[in-house]
Amino acid sequence: MENFTLARVIHVIAVILWIGGVAMVTTVIIPAVKNLKTKEDQIKTLEQIEGRFAFQAKITTLLTGLTGFYMMYELDAWDRYLDYRFWWIHAMTLVWILFTLILYVLEPFLLHKLFVKYADKNPAKKFSFIHRAHWMLLMFSLITIAGAVAGSHGWFLIK
Ligand code: HEM
Repeated sequence: MENFTLARVIHVIAVILWIGGVAMVTTVIIPAVKNLKTKEDQIKTLEQIEGRFAFQAKITTLLTGLTGFYMMYELDAWDRYLDYRFWWIHAMTLVWILFTLILYVLEPFLLHKLFVKYADKNPAKKFSFIHRAHWMLLMFSLITIAGAVAGSHGWFLIK
């Protein structure tokens, strides 16, 4: 049980650092970068900041996944994947898969090249698209967190 509680503590701290960072990038950094004067400054600044954050996020996503699956194993809760009342378990797993794909596969191999290409051609459009994508990921993550806290403490929104 102590190991389980430790896993929960690490899970929640990793989620705070990770999704808190996504909130900071979405609500503060991207709007500030949009206001920079030249497109060269915009591209360079966002790349530097997101690059550093991506490194941290890779570690926190990994910790979240490891501790999450460990808790699933300890609780022997795999059948929750077959029960719609545990939609927040599906949501946690989906958020995790999405970010893992973005951070480990799409960003390094595809998104980075696309960002430089399109940001150079039409920076305003590109930054608006990036901003919207961040807002969607942030909203989905916050709904997931609300559902996970309520659900894991026994409050089921769907009976
Ligand atoms: C592979 C992905 C994940 C798995 C397998 C997983 C699994 C779990 C499990 C088993 C629990 C404990 C449930 C219980 O006590 O009944 C939990 C709690 C929680 N998880 Fe996840 N999780 C994952 C990803 C995430 C993500 C991406 C987030 C945030 C966006 C998240 C946020 C939370 C929160 C906030 C709690 C509640 C902690 C508490 O209030 O005590 N998890 N997770």
